[in-house]
Amino acid sequence: MEVLEAIKTRRSIRRYKTTPVDEKTLEQVLEAARWAPSWANTQCWRFIVVRDGNIRAELAATLSANNPAADAIRSAPVTIVVCAELKRSGCYHGEPTTNKGDTWYMFDAALAMQNLVLAAHALGLGTVHAGAFDAGKADSILGVPEGFCVVEMTPLGYPDHEAKAPPRKEQSEIVFHDKFGG
Ligand SMILES: Cc1cc2nc3c(=O)[nH]c(=O)nc-3n(C[C@H](O)[C@H](O)[C@H](O)COP(=O)(O)O)c2cc1C
Repeated sequence: MEVLEAIKTRRSIRRYKTTPVDEKTLEQVLEAARWAPSWANTQCWRFIVVRDGNIRAELAATLSANNPAADAIRSAPVTIVVCAELKRSGCYHGEPTTNKGDTWYMFDAALAMQNLVLAAHALGLGTVHAGAFDAGKADSILGVPEGFCVVEMTPLGYPDHEAKAPPRKEQSEIVFHDKFGG
């Protein structure tokens, strides 16, 4: 699938078939994440592939009340959780180098996960970025060690429906010229 087409036609998928995802397809999806750019090529991300139904159910229970991604995590055959190593991205010798503090790991993790979801879509798979959950609980469910944290997760599986695209702001609302607001 052509990249611009993939960007435009990818949708958040919240209902899945139980059809398994084979290892080769999974590897292709993870390969797309592996090749994402990152701060000074620090690659602070780590990916946990969760197939175990009990662990997926525990993860789903960390999502915010009425979060529509929770059922998706329970029903899709795979959940991919992205973790990040702290004090690496945007840091030098463990100290932040910008006024954003130690937050650039979020940016790097997002770049990797967006690569992953686009590749998944190109292969006919569905995903939904899920960020509204108790990340501390997810850390302990998954045994994430000190110095790392869970950032987000997505179910991965074959879509059981066609999702409608929520509208986007017009370029005239979000694109400025030369100065903010210009
Ligand atoms: C950082 C981030 C966190 C998100 N968290 C959730 C979530 O917790 N639950 C959910 O159902 N969707 C979540 N979404 C999906 C958005 O609601 C969705 O991307 C947006 O409505 C646009 O729809 P589309 O992905 O189909 O284009 C999240 C998306 C992003 C980028």
